[in-house]
Amino acid sequence: MKLQNATVLVTGANRGIGLALVRALLGAGVQKVYATARDRNSLEAVTALDSARVIPLQVDVTNHDLVSRLSEQAPDVNLLINNAGVLSFGNILEVPVEKIHEQFDVNFYGALNMARAFVPAIEKNGGGAIVNILTLVALASMPGLATYNASKAAAWSMTQSLRASVSDKNIAVYGVFPGAVDTDMLAGVDMAKTSPADIAKAVLHGIETDLEDIFPDPMSTQLYAAWRQDHKAVEKQFAGM
Ligand SMILES: NC(=O)c1ccc[n+]([C@@H]2O[C@H](COP(=O)([O-])OP(=O)(O)OC[C@H]3O[C@@H](n4cnc5c(N)ncnc54)[C@H](OP(=O)(O)O)[C@@H]3O)[C@@H](O)[C@H]2O)c1
Repeated sequence: MKLQNATVLVTGANRGIGLALVRALLGAGVQKVYATARDRNSLEAVTALDSARVIPLQVDVTNHDLVSRLSEQAPDVNLLINNAGVLSFGNILEVPVEKIHEQFDVNFYGALNMARAFVPAIEKNGGGAIVNILTLVALASMPGLATYNASKAAAWSMTQSLRASVSDKNIAVYGVFPGAVDTDMLAGVDMAKTSPADIAKAVLHGIETDLEDIFPDPMSTQLYAAWRQDHKAVEKQFAGM
């Protein structure tokens, strides 16, 4: 999909990868970006990037009424980027049940709510694309992120079903599988991380070159290659981390 003159909606646009995506989209010449967040006041910095092209709107992706209202406020979208996400650390036996629900509510149901709400508009607008920001650990579980992995693996499966279900509507569906990124989500985790700006650049390149599965950084590229060769070896490697 060409980004020039696209009308884009990004969830979780107030910080991290979402903020970097809005900045990169503006640089790529989009017509308009609906930058959305749970708290509209947190969108001041992103709106200041280009107050003519950035429209701040409030949405909590787990709230059906707000998602439905959003689809009415932003009827001209042709590119939806499901970026909002949450992560709780902990192994599969210990993560509190409410934290498991929270991760599935945002990472799986939230992205699905948004896709269901926006497919009719994107189709009506002549087609376009939906991007789901997943994670490398959707492919193989890292046990210290056990329930996050599971919610994102479910979102990956949803991404594949969605792709098949909208293929006759001129809507492309892209899955993004980042490795470690330098945002609040992994603050305090000491490891090599890619900048959100580099992730955003790779995501936009993937959309423009029609790459269904986007591995946007060196860690994800290398581990995806290893996973394709021997997925059990990657599972064992992650189990030891
Ligand atoms: N950082 C990494 O290493 C990494 C790696 C792979 C994939 N990812 C994925 O990349 C995406 C962005 O993550 P990030 O690293 O930028 O994390 P982040 O800095 O923690 O930002 C998360 C964003 O999601 C928003 N959000 C959370 N729950 C929401 C809800 N119910 N409704 C709407 N927005 C909600 C947050 O809004 P508030 O400010 O209101 O909390 C925030 O804008 C996520 O899907 C994450 O899983 C991140």
